[in-house]
Amino acid sequence: MNLLVVCLGNICRSPMAEGALRARLEASALAGRVRVDSAGTGGWHAGEPPDRRAIACARGHGVDIGGQRARQVTADDFDTFDWILCADRANLRDVLRMAPAAARGRVVLLLEWAGLEAAGEVPDPYTGGPEDFQQVWRLVDSAAQAVVARLAAN
Ligand code: 4NP
Repeated sequence: MNLLVVCLGNICRSPMAEGALRARLEASALAGRVRVDSAGTGGWHAGEPPDRRAIACARGHGVDIGGQRARQVTADDFDTFDWILCADRANLRDVLRMAPAAARGRVVLLLEWAGLEAAGEVPDPYTGGPEDFQQVWRLVDSAAQAVVARLAAN
């Protein structure tokens, strides 16, 4: 199973989600069986590490995301990944525009796919403060736990 998390810049939300998913998967019976990556619909930050606020927030929850480097979504991603998990509806729309018809059913909202229906979107924390990053962590880590529970049950 290969999972790709997508946000806009690939320096805040999707690196945090990648880190949370990796940590929750490694601590589960699924360790080593699920590949996780992240990417952005935009390429402005390609090659950069995550935003320092995202790194600090994840570190505060015991997860090191400092080794990640941003990249843009590519056409190959639709072949490589089983599911493309989008942070918000704008990301979903932009990825769907790029996706070949056969892949569109595998492009979904992260929180909905995780089963957190009420949550909807992971809000962009880029222009916000530390509390916005904490809220992102709460959402993506809840999603990571729900994803692990779902995949472990299959
Ligand atoms: P992300 O946050 O999509 O969660 O990585 C953003 C990062 C950068 C920008 C916007 C959102 N930006 O405009 O550069």
